[in-house]
Amino acid sequence: MATRKTITIRRPDDWHLHLRDGDMLAAVAPCTAADFARAIVMPNLVPPVVRGADAARYRERILAALPPDTAFTPLMTLYLAQTTDPDDVAAAAASGLISAVKLYPAGATTNSESGVRDIADVTAVLERMADIGLPLLVHGEVTDPDVDIFDREAVFIDRVLDPLRQRLPALRIVLEHVTTQDAVDFVRNSDAGLAATITPHHLIINRNHLFAGGIRPHYYCLPIAKRERHRVALRDAATSGDPRFFLGTDSAPHLDALKETACGCAGVFNVTNALSCVAQVFDDDDALDRLEAFVSLNGPAFYGVPVNEASITLVRHDTPVAFAPSLATNDGPLTVFDPGMALFWHAAPQTAQRPA
Ligand code: NCD
Ligand code: ZN
Repeated sequence: MATRKTITIRRPDDWHLHLRDGDMLAAVAPCTAADFARAIVMPNLVPPVVRGADAARYRERILAALPPDTAFTPLMTLYLAQTTDPDDVAAAAASGLISAVKLYPAGATTNSESGVRDIADVTAVLERMADIGLPLLVHGEVTDPDVDIFDREAVFIDRVLDPLRQRLPALRIVLEHVTTQDAVDFVRNSDAGLAATITPHHLIINRNHLFAGGIRPHYYCLPIAKRERHRVALRDAATSGDPRFFLGTDSAPHLDALKETACGCAGVFNVTNALSCVAQVFDDDDALDRLEAFVSLNGPAFYGVPVNEASITLVRHDTPVAFAPSLATNDGPLTVFDPGMALFWHAAPQTAQRPA
């Protein structure tokens, strides 16, 4: 039950976002800038954003894809490769160019082929990051084909994350797009320096939605949605106000033609209705008073950056808000995440202005 019609909060940030490049970037970047002040931009391009110089050029392409004077700051990341040079990472961090480094176990997800095969191989980089306080963002799934796909996050925690935390307790880590009760419990039971992002779609769908009445390629992402009890654990974590959990949409656009095929890509494109979905979830769980923590406060606190000065007003409408089911790009349409439930919340139009 809604208890109020509008809610004004600090402008949100997206702590896990795929913007891609070229025509796709041009299509999706303005959608993020419409609702979010900043976003942690994932580096899994082809080829990946490995060196500081790559991130500097990518940042320029992102800014060029936005209308002039758009109030949006991309927070850049580097893709941790077997060849990553600790000095290059440290220089990029010192100059303020990058906010984090992303660990993709090789083969775990879209464009992760150049990722890390054995975490022991990147020890020197991780030690340097721990020294300078640069966060490691982790795609937390093992790639061992013998591990069931629904168990890969929990097994990663046991085999990789827990040992890494014990070996390098000073390394600040964000476990990205968590999907399990195991991950929520692990974060809750950890000492300082570990946080997690949660996506809108993992708050809303469980694994049954992937197969409801037929196969649903637009619900396929990695890590894959799990059982209902895991979804409930994620909602509890997100709506609890616990500062270690914050929003990362993991909006991961793939053209419909590449999802609706015999071997469809993993990734949900959700950014056009992400805030509405999250507000609806918090409203349904009687937690609107903790929405701002999840979308606008907890992320900046973990990353050690100020919260946004600007605010955003979300309005609860009396009738469901209609969202465009897809977004056009020059290469074809992108289907928008369908939450399968009515969304009553919508951001009131903003006047865009660049932060001073
Ligand atoms: C992401 C992508 O498409 O880049 N896909 C996904 O299913 N989430 C990669 C990722 O974050 O795993
Ligand atoms: Zn992602």
